Amino acid sequence: MYNVVLIGCGHMGAVHLDDIYTMENINVYGVADLDAERARLFARKYGADSFDTDYMRYLRDEKTDIVICATYPATHLEILKQCVQYKKHLLCEKPMTASLAEAEEFVELARNGGIKVQVGYILRYNETYRKVAGMIQAGAIGKPLVIRMAQNHHVMDWRKYRALLKGSSPIVDCGVHYIDVCRWFTGAEIESVDGICATLDQEVPENAFNYGLMTMRLTDGSVAYYEAGWGNSIAADNLKEFIGPRGRIKIVEREHRLSCQEEGDLIEYYDSVGREYRTINVNCKRRPTGAQLAHLIEMIEDGVPSVPSIDDVYMSYKIAVSADQKLRRKKLC
Ligand SMILES: NC(=O)c1ccc[n+]([C@@H]2O[C@H](COP(=O)([O-])OP(=O)(O)OC[C@H]3O[C@@H](n4cnc5c(N)ncnc54)[C@H](O)[C@@H]3O)[C@@H](O)[C@H]2O)c1
Repeated sequence: MYNVVLIGCGHMGAVHLDDIYTMENINVYGVADLDAERARLFARKYGADSFDTDYMRYLRDEKTDIVICATYPATHLEILKQCVQYKKHLLCEKPMTASLAEAEEFVELARNGGIKVQVGYILRYNETYRKVAGMIQAGAIGKPLVIRMAQNHHVMDWRKYRALLKGSSPIVDCGVHYIDVCRWFTGAEIESVDGICATLDQEVPENAFNYGLMTMRLTDGSVAYYEAGWGNSIAADNLKEFIGPRGRIKIVEREHRLSCQEEGDLIEYYDSVGREYRTINVNCKRRPTGAQLAHLIEMIEDGVPSVPSIDDVYMSYKIAVSADQKLRRKKLC
């Protein structure tokens, strides 16, 4: 039985606990949030033994085994340092940190800190993405030529998005997942990035932007784009499509299917050689945080490596930051 402590009782904290609080080998030992009421409600909902506004109480506690960190990126490195000091294993939300210098320190501690560290790249545990990765790697579309990706959020509650925008941008925050997808699916490296950005809403903090489109050139000759906007003026949108000389694959998340949503995601596959269409149903969780935590437990018990590796986590973050900086410079011109 592992005593798990959640730091950060917000949106992603709930996604983590929703999936793990019934696991047989997990006890939700404590929950912490700067907002005491939020922490209290989480403790009640998920049956935590206690709650606090100060996470250090759980770091110092010998009974804590695993920390799940679902706070903003600017706090991640400090929480990792405390986990190293008090020997707690860590599942940390992406993006790994709020700057490249912090990310380098994070990697060093993740490698040599004497604890197990997994950064939450949840798509690596998503059955639909795993299936598409396998299809592409088996040649279903031939060598990928074009990757089209968009992930726009229609914002009603600015509290959270203002907090995220202060330390990051949608290109970095969600972009790390999709940069990782490009590298994972193709096996190629990203050799250059470019793009554009804009500020769409007046609620956006100064020096931030809430709409970006990054383009990527990969070493295998393929190209990709990733569009990300968080705003009230933009509509929610989700596009994931992979095109090659033998066809294309599109992921349709269950909530975007026209019917039978209860059956799961759809993979639409067009074989352009045989001129045939296939639709594959994948009944899976969108954010399988339970599988991700189970992997951390395997790292602890069996010594298996993290998935993705800390090098892959760092690489996708570094590329996202370089795209973000380029977009900001262009915006100022
Ligand atoms: N993997 C994914 O698919 C995914 C999706 C959404 C968000 N995220 C990531 O999860 C993290 C949190 O995002 P969110 O959407 O849950 O935000 P959120 O605002 O809903 O929740 C964050 C919570 O952390 C708390 N918090 C902040 N600093 C704290 C501290 N020092 N101690 C204790 N609590 C603290 C806040 O009070 C808030 O309740 C971000 O890094 C974000 O990028 C990941």
